[in-house]
Amino acid sequence: MTRRAIVTGVGHYLPDKVVENSHFESFLDTSDEWIRSRSGIERRHFAAEGQTTSDMAARAARAALAAAGRQPDEVDAILLATSTADLTFPSAATMVQAQLGMTRGFAFDIQAVCAGFVFALANASALIACGQATRILVIGSESFSKLMDWSDRTTCVLFGDGAGAVLLEASEGAGTSDDRGILSTDLHSDGRHRDILYVDGGVSTGTVGHLKMQGKEVFRHAIDKLAATAHASMDKAGVTSADVDWIVPHQANIRIIQGTAKKMQMPMDNVIVTVQDHGNTSAASIPLALSVGAERGQIKRGDLLVTEAIGGGLAWGSVVLRW
Ligand code: UT7
Repeated sequence: MTRRAIVTGVGHYLPDKVVENSHFESFLDTSDEWIRSRSGIERRHFAAEGQTTSDMAARAARAALAAAGRQPDEVDAILLATSTADLTFPSAATMVQAQLGMTRGFAFDIQAVCAGFVFALANASALIACGQATRILVIGSESFSKLMDWSDRTTCVLFGDGAGAVLLEASEGAGTSDDRGILSTDLHSDGRHRDILYVDGGVSTGTVGHLKMQGKEVFRHAIDKLAATAHASMDKAGVTSADVDWIVPHQANIRIIQGTAKKMQMPMDNVIVTVQDHGNTSAASIPLALSVGAERGQIKRGDLLVTEAIGGGLAWGSVVLRW
């Protein structure tokens, strides 16, 4: 028997404010046509003034708990993937713990930028496998609108805000790829590439800073690294592309999503795509896509999923799980 981490609930939260591409035409030399054709993005949500990453995370977490039929005090841990925590410390995860009224367990943030949710799933799976926890809320929540330089058309049109969450629960499996739950994980980072995607602020500068990206350079790394990590985690799980029902990719750019699917020899019919409605929500993009994919009736119990993401660091990785 193998102790697996299975998804028993999923949920998400998107702030009310929806911003269409045309909004940017009023103050930048850009166009709806450029943004759509180069990135696939049509609109994104922005958090309200004063609305924080932990607020959005708590709403997504409540939705996931409701879907699982669980109460906050039945949860052992919260892992919150984010690069936009409300404060330098304490962790946004402990703020969510307090907002949910959780009086037990432990909570911490995971910072691997756009790959954060994949890193968080891998860590949560390990915590469950080793017996440290039985139920873990894994959340991705981001307020990237707070990091934008609104005069930089190469970045500010691409990102959005939101949160998604899953509840993982321990379950005994047979140890085969037919088991429900997380079957394999594959994580990487390479700090030599820090200059192609970063925020130019933090404790060392005393400012929050703005996101800086050499988009073409990130793009150059993305498809090869994402396809390679997806193949590595599929190998570890003992499955092939032919077994996979859904790729649930990080939603940064439709061309990266399409290129990676092609390298994985998967048709786009088997890819969950939300980038048109959310933009790039960094660590929130995969749990948002999982939640929307389940809501649309695309992802069903028993389906085999591959999630993959790459972002600042560079950090990248993938997870194979059976829903
Ligand atoms: O989530 C973390 C990981 N991040 C990513 O995966 C992002 C990866 N990169 C990308 O998605 C793409 O590289 C972008 C969408 C950022 C850019 O697409 P691209 O096809 O690589 O365009 P480019 O940067 O090569 O720019 C093409 C042209 C340039 O003009 P010139 O130099 O050819 O005259 C840019 O200045 O488009 C120009 N441009 C714009 N034009 C209108 C850049 N941004 C804009 C804009 N509107 N917003």
